[in-house]
Amino acid sequence: MNRFLVSFNSKDLPSGKTDILIVGSGVAGLSSAIQAAKYGTVTIITKNKLSENNTQKAQGGIAVALSKNDAPEKHIKDTLKVGCGLCDEKAVKIIVEEGPARIRELIKWGAEFDKQGDELSFTREAGHSMRRVIHAKGDATGIELERTLIAKVKQNTNIKILEYAFAIDLLHKDGTCFGTIVNMKNNERRIIYAQKVILATGGIGRLYRETTNSSVATGCGMALAYRAGAKLVDMEFVQFHPTTLYVAGLSRILISEAVRGEGGVLKNRHGERFMFKYHKDGELAPRDVTSRSILKEMRKTSDTRVYLDITHLPPSLIKNRFPNIMEVCSSFDIDIKKDLIPVRPTAHYMIGGIKIDEKGKTNIQNLYACGETASSGAHGANRLASNSLLEGLVFGYRAGQFAGKDIDSGKKVDTTPDISNVLDHVSTRKLDIGDLKAALKSLMTRYVGIERNETGLLAAQKEISFWSSYVMKKEFSDVRDWELQNMLLIAGLVQKAALIRKESRGVHYRMDYPKQNDAKWGNNH
Ligand code: SIN
Repeated sequence: MNRFLVSFNSKDLPSGKTDILIVGSGVAGLSSAIQAAKYGTVTIITKNKLSENNTQKAQGGIAVALSKNDAPEKHIKDTLKVGCGLCDEKAVKIIVEEGPARIRELIKWGAEFDKQGDELSFTREAGHSMRRVIHAKGDATGIELERTLIAKVKQNTNIKILEYAFAIDLLHKDGTCFGTIVNMKNNERRIIYAQKVILATGGIGRLYRETTNSSVATGCGMALAYRAGAKLVDMEFVQFHPTTLYVAGLSRILISEAVRGEGGVLKNRHGERFMFKYHKDGELAPRDVTSRSILKEMRKTSDTRVYLDITHLPPSLIKNRFPNIMEVCSSFDIDIKKDLIPVRPTAHYMIGGIKIDEKGKTNIQNLYACGETASSGAHGANRLASNSLLEGLVFGYRAGQFAGKDIDSGKKVDTTPDISNVLDHVSTRKLDIGDLKAALKSLMTRYVGIERNETGLLAAQKEISFWSSYVMKKEFSDVRDWELQNMLLIAGLVQKAALIRKESRGVHYRMDYPKQNDAKWGNNH
């Protein structure tokens, strides 16, 4: 495997310097920037505009043990239960116990979470034994979070922001990272040298045909970390969200789990409520169970969707709690107070990723990661609803703090070494990138999706390695094309991990090994 996507010589490229370079601008990246800026100069690069990311799309909220009758121990217990035996207990304790302080900080910075009287308002989501999820403007929690963090970042003169700047590769040598090779907005290629790099590039939803994710979620951060030698773990664990609005020909939009938390029920085309057939918790069964049950009902009833029914809820509750969902649906002539909402499962959250320790450090010297692109182990084999923004906040804070403290410790090393790369055997074959991306997405959905088996996973392996044999030989000069190379690399890792784990656990469901096998896989990442 090539260690870089392009030929270059760092001596010949224009360059800049920053103490800490952050790649990505969701909750984890912005949180890390705010902390890191206490210790040195920070540059954030982001491949689109600052607010284009998965955080912005989050609806339901942030799980946090802040209500009067809650306690961290209860939140920890629920997280471990849903994680199906694979959670790293230390990471779970960190996010749950540090979460309340991070939320108080956000409120101090101006975040407005919904309230009931003077108290925060808590909603319920699947897997939580109680109401624990705070939210903003009904169903616009991610937008409020980004608004608050972007305002805070923009006030800080130590932080520089570069939008539409794409990290092609980490500048690395012998297991140490020195910065990144960046394709700037004007297509100029440059080096940004940094003492520490923090990757916060989000998930991989765009590897699938249908997803709740932003267009930027192509797994690029994971791919460039892997090329530099970073360890990636738990790649088979891709979470599908059970309820995405399905109106063919239009983009897929998340219909928050909080809708079911407030009493929404799932029905098939015959108007039958079906979830209790599959799980004692009905519509609030864990996400993996709900997604698979919906697939079964779709097959049984020869339908392309099932239906979320909230017509029995008071109209005032619907209006206050789900104003955005109501507006989006109404733009498709669906009045959610009277009509059923057509939904089906789509790719939602990547549990696996770049392995980090409790400080956000990877196995590469000077490289940190946080948020969805990282794997702290907090989610195990199945992420508890609304724990992702919490993890992004807590581990973003930690990565920024520890990276900052590390530069502060003043170790003097050569931070601008000359590094070069020459790609051999470059192919000149013309490729239709759009066609390849569409083919990859279909393949991943069919064979590496909600249900998997050996035959399908091997078929996926064959295709991915065939496509890679010519795509990886090309030297591209466009973001869209590098994205395809990254997507193929990560797709291969997800497929391989899914093939290796011969059991079903959490979001990884093998039809040929439908049982959880603790003796063989209980401790295995
Ligand atoms: C949702 O609102 O259903 C998404 C929350 C999450 O993914 O945790």
